[in-house]
Amino acid sequence: MNYNKKTVRDVEVSGKKVLLRCDFNVPQDKETGEITSDKRIVAALPTIQYLLDNNAAVIACSHLGKPKNGPDPKLSLAPVAKRLSELLGREVIFAHDVVGEDARAKAAALQPGQILLLENTRFEKGETKNDPELAKAMASMAELYVSDAFGAVHRAHASTAGVAAYLPAVSGFLIQKELEFLGGAIANPKRPLVAILGGSKVSSKIGVINNLLEIADTIIIGGGMAYTFSAAMGGKVGNSLLEADWMDYSREMIEKAKAKGVKLLLPVDTVCADAFAADANSQVVKAGEIPDGWEGLDIGPETVKLYCDAVADAGTVIWNGPMGVFEFPAFAKGTEAVAEALSRTSAITIIGGGDSAAAVEQLGYADKMTHISTGGGASLEFLEGKELPGVACLLDA
Ligand code: 3PG
Repeated sequence: MNYNKKTVRDVEVSGKKVLLRCDFNVPQDKETGEITSDKRIVAALPTIQYLLDNNAAVIACSHLGKPKNGPDPKLSLAPVAKRLSELLGREVIFAHDVVGEDARAKAAALQPGQILLLENTRFEKGETKNDPELAKAMASMAELYVSDAFGAVHRAHASTAGVAAYLPAVSGFLIQKELEFLGGAIANPKRPLVAILGGSKVSSKIGVINNLLEIADTIIIGGGMAYTFSAAMGGKVGNSLLEADWMDYSREMIEKAKAKGVKLLLPVDTVCADAFAADANSQVVKAGEIPDGWEGLDIGPETVKLYCDAVADAGTVIWNGPMGVFEFPAFAKGTEAVAEALSRTSAITIIGGGDSAAAVEQLGYADKMTHISTGGGASLEFLEGKELPGVACLLDA
């Protein structure tokens, strides 16, 4: 896949109406609807500001949540318009539909230097079906399409990919940055390339493991998925997370790594607990020797040392998934030690979105990383080496 795409800087935006796809899929308080993190809105500001400063009329759009049956007031983008307006320090006009009368009238009246936010694109049923009629209707309001919704580039929807059939399509600064770092790490990494994979399930990382076995020099396994690997090698895992159906696969991957000369590092010790609880009793045991009734919740100190050493002389490190149950401070040490090692290495450090990004932020190491991806599912599909429809539809540079 070509990651070298035209950006807003490569096209004339002055005086143009620009349809800008953002990922404003922000977390909200279930009771009050209040936005609990505006990070995704903040991440879109550089592109919005650039377009406004360069005299474009910006028609912003995004999905929010997963509405299934048309408009749902709880999933309106109106609170996002308010927050965006506060952040920009200027008015954000809000349309109460996506391609209806209100949106079309407000888009038609929009002047250069003004910004309009359309209602949740998923209120239109054609959005997730990538309906060409919807894409055409959205495109008809603008002269240029800019996508900055990295978190949604793995979706082939009308507003993330379909519109590009009807308008010249370029990337904003956020997608450009994600392509530079994630794309660079996959296509042309500074070696050795070390991939740290964690999280609870082997089954959710199959695509990533398969792809990284082709390109990484070292793969480090931690988190709940390590117990399936341990059981596959005949270890005792007690009550730890285990995906018995994936034990054969895990064995095959160990063999494949050997055959390819890829170093596959598995935990050598485990912090296990007598319950899945923050205040559970814990002990350190050798990997594969977890007593009955106990469950592994973190990597042990010997494993931490092994993993941190592997990171120290890396050229590039990609990290996806925590090493243990980092939400419980007693079982966050492995994840924290890896984050700390990443903060000290001179390697390019890239953190996949979702849990690993949350862990790095929660533990206070965010500003020490080269790049933290804003995409959860999108960064995972990126690491799987899949073609991303929201990137493929953009003009090549
Ligand atoms: C995300 O939150 O990962 C993106 O906004 C994509 O959302 P989706 O999984 O609802 O398509």
